[in-house]
Amino acid sequence: YKKITTKSLIDMKANGEKISMLTAYDFTMAKIVDTAGIDVILVGDSASNVMAGHETTLPITLDQMIYHASSVVRAVDRALVVVDLPFGSYQSDSKEALRSSIRIMKESGGHAVKLEGGREIESSIKKILNAGIPVMGHLGLTPQSIYKFGTYTVRAKEEEEAEQLIEDAKMLERIGCFALVLEKIPAKLAQKVAESISIPVIGIGAGSGVDGQVLVLHDMVGMTHEFSPRFLRRYMNLFEDMTKAIGQYVSDVKSVDFPNANEQY
Ligand code: KIV
Ligand code: NA
Repeated sequence: YKKITTKSLIDMKANGEKISMLTAYDFTMAKIVDTAGIDVILVGDSASNVMAGHETTLPITLDQMIYHASSVVRAVDRALVVVDLPFGSYQSDSKEALRSSIRIMKESGGHAVKLEGGREIESSIKKILNAGIPVMGHLGLTPQSIYKFGTYTVRAKEEEEAEQLIEDAKMLERIGCFALVLEKIPAKLAQKVAESISIPVIGIGAGSGVDGQVLVLHDMVGMTHEFSPRFLRRYMNLFEDMTKAIGQYVSDVKSVDFPNANEQY
């Protein structure tokens, strides 16, 4: 695939090729992620935690998401760029949801939007899709509802919530979403969902029986280090490496080791 589209992702699922997805929130990181060959870049509202240091994803605004997304879009040649609609930008009614989605598409140049929820936002998703904007769903643990759940523990362990989730996933497929994220649910349930719909299911903490995986970039390269859920594989330890490098710089400056004769004019 030279350039990833929503259609490529659906083809990948049909061909049994797994989909790779990571977050990015700025130009420089997005350039690295795109160059490495990722299929989908998510401008996640996890920027609220990772970029701004908030405890939850709730405080980030639509304007801030558009700023992050436009920075990412400028860096990307190949990946599909999906942008989260932040809390408060789509829950009131479907008109607000459409208005916010249009702002994201026009002002950032992103390729699709993602919203958290199922039946409760069905009419909003339909409205956005009717405007020609591709929508990615997000079910299971939906962090914008953290104050309703109370904890970030595994969702849909009980039969009733699992049945609801399967129905919501089928509804998202039926109304025309091109993919959906399943966050922190039992692997068996996630596999069942992936097998019962034809659009790609991208998991995070949802096991290997789905059609692709997503992680938060700063977590997988170990820039963040307090956050250690079971589903997170750390490929690097950048917090440690960068702390060491910066410590070295501090001591080189103090000792006038830096700059040396070759590092000046
Ligand atoms: O905001 C985010 O990073 C996300 C992913 C974890 C799916 O929604
Ligand atoms: Na998100």
